[in-house]
Amino acid sequence: MVQPKLEGKVALITGAAAGLGEGIAETYAKYGARICMVDLSPDVEATAERIRGMYPDARIITAVANVADRAQMDEAAKATADAFGPIDIACCNAGVCRLAPFEQMPDAMRDFHIDVNIKGVWNTCQATIPYMLSNGGGAIVIASSVTGDIVADAGEAAYAMSKAALVGLTKCLAVEYADRNIRVNCSQLGYARTPMVEKMAVESNPDDPESAIADIAVGVPMKRLARPTEVGELFAFLGSDEASYITGAQVVIDGGSTLPETMSIGTN
Ligand SMILES: NC(=O)c1ccc[n+]([C@@H]2O[C@H](COP(=O)([O-])OP(=O)(O)OC[C@H]3O[C@@H](n4cnc5c(N)ncnc54)[C@H](O)[C@@H]3O)[C@@H](O)[C@H]2O)c1
Repeated sequence: MVQPKLEGKVALITGAAAGLGEGIAETYAKYGARICMVDLSPDVEATAERIRGMYPDARIITAVANVADRAQMDEAAKATADAFGPIDIACCNAGVCRLAPFEQMPDAMRDFHIDVNIKGVWNTCQATIPYMLSNGGGAIVIASSVTGDIVADAGEAAYAMSKAALVGLTKCLAVEYADRNIRVNCSQLGYARTPMVEKMAVESNPDDPESAIADIAVGVPMKRLARPTEVGELFAFLGSDEASYITGAQVVIDGGSTLPETMSIGTN
C-alpha cells in the first residue's frame, strides 16, 4: 500500500477557517497530516469539524489567533507541538485584500496589508522554524500570488506590494535555511472562488458582483477559477518529502491566466 504523502507530518495552517486555507487543511487531512488549523475567526472549529466528518481518522486541533500578533502565533505553534510533536510544515496562507484607488487609499488600509500579509507570514515563520530546527528540518509554503510579482489590477496597490514582498521573503529564507534542511517555497495563485474573491467582486462591481466573477473566468484559458483543494494539492506537494529538492521556488497555479499575450490575436 502506498503511504499517504503527509503521514506522520505535523502541519500548522493559517487562515484555515475558510477559502483556500480550508481547502489546504482538507487536503492535508486527506494525506494523513496532523494539523493545527489557525484562524482569526472562531468559525475555524466548525470548519475543522466538517473536515473530521470527511476524514474520521484525521487528527486536527484548532487555534484562534491573529497572524499579525507574534505572541498569539507563538502560542498557536506551542499548542501544535504540545498536541502532536515538533512542527514539520507551516502553511502561511492567511491574507487579506482590500481595493481602493491609490490616491484615496488610507494609510490604515496599506498598513493592514503589511501587518497581515507580510508581518503575518513573518510571524508564522519565526514561530514555527524553531520546532523544525529542533527536529532536523521542515518545509514552509507561503501563499504569494500572481498579483504583484507578475500582474496587477487597478486598486490593488497595497495587496500587490504585500504579495510581491513574500517572493523576496521566500527566496531569502530558502537560502538562509537550505543547509539546515528547511525548504521554503511560495504559491502564485491566479483566482479561486473564496470569500476574499467574492468581496473583491463586490468592491469591483457592487451592482453585479456575479458578473465580475464570471468575467474572471473569461480571461482564464481554462475558463474557470481554481478550486481551493487544487491549491491544497500544491501545498501538500511542496510540504511533502516528495518535493525534497525544491526550495526557493515560485509555483504559478493559475489555469494559464498569466499566459495570453492578447485577448484578440490567435486561431481560437
Ligand atoms: N482566492 C484567490 O483567488 C487568491 C489568489 C491569490 C492569492 N490568494 C491568497 O491566498 C490566501 C487565502 O486567500 P482566500 O481567498 O482563501 O482568503 P479568504 O478571505 O477567503 O480567507 C482567508 C482566511 O484567513 C483568515 N484571516 C484573515 N486575517 C487573518 C489574520 N490576521 N490572522 C489569522 N487568520 C486570518 C480569515 O478569517 C479567513 O478564514 C491569501 O493570502 C490570499 O492573498 C488568494
